[in-house]
Order: sequence, then C-alpha cells, then structure tokens
Amino acid sequence: MRWFALPLVVVVLAVGCGPTEEEMAAEAAAVAAAAQDSMMAEAVAMFDASVFDTLTWETPEKRADRGAQVYNFSCARCHGSEGLGDGGFVMAGDTLRPPSFREPTWAMAGDEPAVRRAIFVGTKEGMPHWGLEGLKAEAVDAVAAYVVSGLGSD
Ligand code: HEC
Repeated sequence: MRWFALPLVVVVLAVGCGPTEEEMAAEAAAVAAAAQDSMMAEAVAMFDASVFDTLTWETPEKRADRGAQVYNFSCARCHGSEGLGDGGFVMAGDTLRPPSFREPTWAMAGDEPAVRRAIFVGTKEGMPHWGLEGLKAEAVDAVAAYVVSGLGSD
C-alpha cells in the first residue's frame, strides 16, 4: 500500500464502523428532547401558584414599572416591544414563534394566573422556563400583569 492510502483506509474504516450522520443526529435530537422533558417536569414541579396569593405591592404603579422593566429586559427580544411576537430574535430568522399578546382571541387574554404559570413553567417550543432561570415570584407577578394589561397600553 502506498503511503497516501493509509489515511484513506482509516477514514473508510471509521465511517464504516461508526454511527451514520443520521444516527448521530437522531441521537442528539433524542438527548435534547429528553433534556427538555426533564426541565419541563422540574419547572412544573417547582411551580407553586399559592406564592402569588400573599404577594403585595406598595402601589399599582410600582407593579407596572417593575413589569415593564422585566419585560423589556427579558421578554421583548422574542415577544417584541409591543408584544406582537415580533422580537429581534424572531425577525432575525429564528424559528421561534411566540404568540401575539395583543390579539383579543389570544387564549390567555385576561387570565393572569394562566400567564404567571406559562412564564414560570415555559414550554418545549422555545419559551424559556423562567422559574428554573431564577426569575423571582414578584418579577413573574409584575410581568404577567404587564402582559395581560396589554403592555401598559390600556
Ligand atoms: C427566547 C425567546 C423567548 C423569550 C426570551 C421569552 N419568550 Fe415567552 N414564548 C416564546 C415562545 C417561542 C413561545 C411560544 C411557545 C410555544 O408555542 O410553546 C412563548 C410563549 C409565552 C407565553 C404563553 C403564550 C401562550 O399563548 O401559550 C407567555 C405568557 C410568555 N411567553 C411570556 C413571556 C414573558 C413574560 C417573557 C419574559 C419574562 C418571555 N415570554 C420571554 C419565546 C420567548
């Protein structure tokens, strides 16, 4: 065998014996899906709706200001500054599809408890698990109220 044939043999053997590209992609997808499942389960287990019953705000303005601050810092990049689902990430070609919070037909319209839970727990389709990210209950409460209020517009 000529010297230059050796690397070729090694490559052929490696390709022939190892998993195919499709198998490796499938395995990576399975690992990612399992990680998503367990994060989802962890967030669901951690969520405690009763925490919000005892939460109080000095004034409604403080709650609204905090909500706007959290939203602009943590949410607008995906959900858009107006809550239309057109944040920078999405417009830059990301595959995420956040819903518009401004549609009257939005399933969670007016439902603060549902929105708080959705924020804390997240989804497997790209909504971060904010409870696991360490977003505090008062921040979840304030930003949920802000979203439900139409981002302070009404
Ligand atoms: C990385 C992008 C991203 C960020 C950052 C993000 N979201 Fe989301 N969010 C999504 C996507 C994508 C969905 C839709 C997920 C789905 O369809 O399962 C979603 C869904 C939601 C929903 C549920 C809506 C519904 O109808 O099911 C709420 C409420 C929400 N987000 C609020 C927030 C708030 C509040 C913040 C900031 C604390 C935030 N999101 C930050 C991407 C994001």
